[in-house]
Amino acid sequence: MDVVVERDEAACGATVADVFDRAVRSGARTIGLATGSSPLSVYRELIRRHREEGLSFAAVRAFLLDEYVGLPAGHPQSYAQVIRTEFASHVDLAGVSGPDGGSSDLSCAADSYDALVVSSGPVDVQLLGIGANGHIGFNEPGSALDSRTRVTTLTSQTRQDNARFFASVDEVPRRVITQGLGTISSARHLVLIATGEHKAKAVAAALEGPVTAECPASVLQRHLMVTVVLEEGAAKLLGRVRSGDAAGH
Ligand code: GLP
Repeated sequence: MDVVVERDEAACGATVADVFDRAVRSGARTIGLATGSSPLSVYRELIRRHREEGLSFAAVRAFLLDEYVGLPAGHPQSYAQVIRTEFASHVDLAGVSGPDGGSSDLSCAADSYDALVVSSGPVDVQLLGIGANGHIGFNEPGSALDSRTRVTTLTSQTRQDNARFFASVDEVPRRVITQGLGTISSARHLVLIATGEHKAKAVAAALEGPVTAECPASVLQRHLMVTVVLEEGAAKLLGRVRSGDAAGH
């Protein structure tokens, strides 16, 4: 596991963008995208490189990690729409796929999305944020480390955390479809970005605590190719950060 600590959010974005830039220029065909605030600096930098440095995604298909259930198509907070607004509409991706949170058969929609990710994959590089409770995608604490894409229910903490994107917490959907931890782990390269001291506890548990369903992001410790890019505040509780081997692996 490579752990890189950067001074601020923009530097984190540039470092993660470097990973995607290298992968895409050397032939990656599938990338995995994440929502939330943390990846926004990465998207800004990739858009800049697309416009100014000839970085093309024309041969690349993107796959989303997760989606809220029940938001109308085109709702500004549906993750498909967020990715369109923040990234996809500014670059030349060959396509973007995500789970169908508006399906009348959600469990079937989850299964078919898992099958799509598997048959199109493995995803070459998967971007991840981390929730304050250690969730990745929408795999809340208690998610099996080998779980597949499924319908699940958000914790009240995650609904509170995400309420800032909605008019009130009551508008945050309770149910979501998320790629499972097993699905996410099937990507070749996992890249996690975290900024801010409010993530420090989750980051330390994920990288240095036991591998357990109680901290879903701890599944990263089992993966062979992981890059973690942290802003100083988010790295604050790491005991063993040294270049190239923070988690002692
Ligand atoms: C949501 C997303 C996650 C994301 C998390 C953290 O719950 N489903 O993929 O990692 O938020 O978001 P933020 O980066 O805004 O803190």
